[in-house]
Amino acid sequence: MSTSITITRPDDWHLHLRDGAMLKAVLPETARHFARAIIMPNLVPPVVTGAQAAAYRERIMAALPEGMAFEPLMTLYLTEDTDPADVAAAHAAGICTAVKLYPAGATTNSASGVRDFDKVRPVLEKMAEIGMPLCVHGEVTDPAVDIFDREAVFIDRVLDPIRRATPGLRVVMEHITTSNGVEYVKANDADLGATITTHHLIINRNHILVGGIKPHYYCLPVAKREEHRLALRAAATSGDTRFFLGTDSAPHVDPLKECACGCAGCFTATNTMALLAHVFEEEGALDKLEGFASRNGPVFYRKPMNEGTITLTKGDAAQWPAKIISGDGPVTVFDPGFPVHWHVDA
Ligand code: NCD
Ligand code: ZN
Repeated sequence: MSTSITITRPDDWHLHLRDGAMLKAVLPETARHFARAIIMPNLVPPVVTGAQAAAYRERIMAALPEGMAFEPLMTLYLTEDTDPADVAAAHAAGICTAVKLYPAGATTNSASGVRDFDKVRPVLEKMAEIGMPLCVHGEVTDPAVDIFDREAVFIDRVLDPIRRATPGLRVVMEHITTSNGVEYVKANDADLGATITTHHLIINRNHILVGGIKPHYYCLPVAKREEHRLALRAAATSGDTRFFLGTDSAPHVDPLKECACGCAGCFTATNTMALLAHVFEEEGALDKLEGFASRNGPVFYRKPMNEGTITLTKGDAAQWPAKIISGDGPVTVFDPGFPVHWHVDA
């Protein structure tokens, strides 16, 4: 028996597109199903000014294949030198939707991130004033803190103090991976939202480490214990509008993943919607998929819903390419490790 659901065209509220040959290869994978995406600014060098964001947006639009529609929602990489006036001007001009906070050294290409949070106070105050969201990579970088505890410690040591010191600041906790993240969102108001990735609904830390190390399951924040994965599933399927999809699809070529010091990032742009249909069906919550992927994000970001739709149909085992071949090399598509029967008609 075939089951089919039609939902408002989804958006991806956390996406890495990179630049150059990689951008060209991965952009169609997202634009096929998604109308818009929040574009991460962690290029080398990072996108720190409104002018750089405008130029990056142009490069993305130039890489979009003819006949495809896609709207990149740009972000600025927050540094200790960021100028509040530049941020406000880029927001007012419609160039930038949000600002991204990376604690220095937390993840891929985050060396220019923030060390001293007092230095970015004027930017955060300006953002609170104009209602511009701050997207937060929520992990402390203190070497004394265990990598599996870094999100929970960040909430207590950094995020909660920043939010208390900056009333009105709208914050997205990006790619939450713990029940601590879920509970912190639930305990607060509509100015706090959280994105959840596809892969964190599917894997726990055993998938990375048991039976041989699996570099394509390694991302940051790293997947946690099973109880946390279940908390993320409960949040994503709850209907609470503060939880929405941000895939964190993060392409790296295979040689940089399959080596002695592999990069963090899972590439899920290609099969995210099929995987989400599988997960939501497993949770008996297919009726909540549209909220999570298509409606809750626009509510938080105060953007209109998309006008188009996509249809997901259950049928034969789904197939997708094992790798996307970019001009820089092959990128492995996230393998959930189980058969998926959902297909997307965009
Ligand atoms: C991201 C990347 O590769 O840029 N990697 C990841 O594991 N998610 C950076 C990030 O979002 O942390
Ligand atoms: Zn990311």
